Amino acid sequence: MPIMELDGRTAVVTGAGRGIGEALARAFHAEGAHVVLADLEGAEDVASSIDPTVQTAHGLRADISTEAGNVELVTAATEILGDIDLFFANAGVGLGTDVLSTPESDWELAFDVNVHSHRWAAKALLPRWLERGDGYFASTASAAGLLAQIGSAPYTLTKRAAVAFAEYLAITYGDAGLKVTCLCPQGVNTQMLHAGDEAAPGGNVVKLAADVLEPEDVARDVVAAINDERLLVLPHPEVADYMQFTASDPDRWVGGMRKLQRRVMGAE
Ligand SMILES: NC(=O)c1ccc[n+]([C@@H]2O[C@H](COP(=O)([O-])OP(=O)(O)OC[C@H]3O[C@@H](n4cnc5c(N)ncnc54)[C@H](O)[C@@H]3O)[C@@H](O)[C@H]2O)c1
Repeated sequence: MPIMELDGRTAVVTGAGRGIGEALARAFHAEGAHVVLADLEGAEDVASSIDPTVQTAHGLRADISTEAGNVELVTAATEILGDIDLFFANAGVGLGTDVLSTPESDWELAFDVNVHSHRWAAKALLPRWLERGDGYFASTASAAGLLAQIGSAPYTLTKRAAVAFAEYLAITYGDAGLKVTCLCPQGVNTQMLHAGDEAAPGGNVVKLAADVLEPEDVARDVVAAINDERLLVLPHPEVADYMQFTASDPDRWVGGMRKLQRRVMGAE
């Protein structure tokens, strides 16, 4: 069984100013990794709370919604860390509702942040990783990327694309030494989950369908998956059963999801 120890490794985590990304950066640092935390805001404060001497944890202000933003992040992080061993594309947005109501600008931002940022980061990182024959690309998608998200078309599509991209990378570059992990949780107790309370009916799905985990629980599962170099991280283990259900009887699965949607919308 492969073992990827984080001790002595370098890691970059996006969306690390709060929530799951903050918990991931803290967990990687606790394992002995030298970390760069990146976010639109908050990353510097979290980094200095991890290591006030700013020697093993650094915060960077970064906007990963453009290719230039990803290139700048990879360049700046490489100046701080030297080679980047692990890049965790965790930043995400939970924008949008249904096909009729979601503005084009929300579709664009959802794809830029939840999908294109992954390939822009990979594009910047792969040349050096292929040269070394070693690199680790991890991403946060969602159980919505495996199963669909009631109430949000952009979230469903972008998270499914993120899972597909992780699989594609693992297939295409695995023989060249690339390791890939994709995190697919259901509800996690962060600002994004609670924003859904008011903004999108789909935000309430997790309250009906799953336990809400703490970011630290999820980060613990991620460290274990990275140690094992495992592709999928399913902090809610029932998601694996749902995946089997969707494959074995998709029509019945959709029927069950329609029923759940009626409950979420208050129709039942
Ligand atoms: N909370 C959940 O229930 C849940 C479930 C499944 C998947 N996820 C995914 O987990 C990841 C982390 O989300 P979270 O739950 O911690 O929510 P969160 O909203 O607390 O964190 C998301 C972070 O991404 C950052 N971000 C957004 N756009 C960015 C940009 N352009 N550049 C840089 N950073 C940007 C935000 O500033 C924020 O700090 C997301 O990809 C989300 O889709 C969350």
